[in-house]
Amino acid sequence: MKILYCGDVVGRTGRRALIERLPELRADLGVDGAIVNGENAAGGVGTTPEICQDFYAAGADLITTGNHVFDQRDLIGHIDGDPRLLRPLNMLPGTPGRGSALLRLADGRKVLVVQVIGRLFMGAYGDPFGALESELAKHPLGGAVDAIVVDVHAEATSEKTALGHLADGRASLVAGTHTHVPTADHQILPGGTAYITDVGMTGDYDSVIGMGKEVALQRFRSHVPGPRLTPALGDATLCAVYVETGPGGLAQRIAPLRLGGRLSGALPDG
Ligand SMILES: [Fe+2]
Ligand SMILES: [Fe+2]
Repeated sequence: MKILYCGDVVGRTGRRALIERLPELRADLGVDGAIVNGENAAGGVGTTPEICQDFYAAGADLITTGNHVFDQRDLIGHIDGDPRLLRPLNMLPGTPGRGSALLRLADGRKVLVVQVIGRLFMGAYGDPFGALESELAKHPLGGAVDAIVVDVHAEATSEKTALGHLADGRASLVAGTHTHVPTADHQILPGGTAYITDVGMTGDYDSVIGMGKEVALQRFRSHVPGPRLTPALGDATLCAVYVETGPGGLAQRIAPLRLGGRLSGALPDG
């Protein structure tokens, strides 16, 4: 199975890059399932039902989010009705939405997608390790599900790597999101799970993690509230990872993908 995982889409330029490039990427790479992190798609914070619809129309099979999931309040009443839209599994009990979903591909194969959120430098979430452990225990890879993809939405590289090892041998891919900076540690872990600490954002890299650099700089240098942060508007780089799984659902290949904008240049060979 061929899976494409696209990192946090930031603002209008990120949306444009995703919507323009995803259909052709799906076709060129023969992708079976495409998952997109949309947590920064609406003005840099959160997403809206309309944007989700645009992403589905462009070829996203499922959308993950993160700490910004409810920044656009429209989503609070909407998320329960959209089975393809995830928020982190280990949010507090009573939070609307779901943290995992079973995606059925056109050919009938099933992909379980799970999102957990980290706690280091993040917020008061539930235990991501226990939450992931029990979700993986419920869905043995190669049993009723053909592939398992885990989005680890976290700040600390150590916490993300530890969650990767927790899932090793039991998931097809563990893809880190949230930092908006792609890491160069994509690999297949010893147990057969493809892993990357952060996929990187789909946004303008002439920025501070997707937001306008002047205002971002000012906020680091003063306690006086300045103008609101807004997304940078230059050409976006679409950042993703491409993964191929083999029999049993474990990974056979992981390749980073960076298309357009300032980080252009990485495409899977062949
Ligand atoms: Fe993000
Ligand atoms: Fe985030």
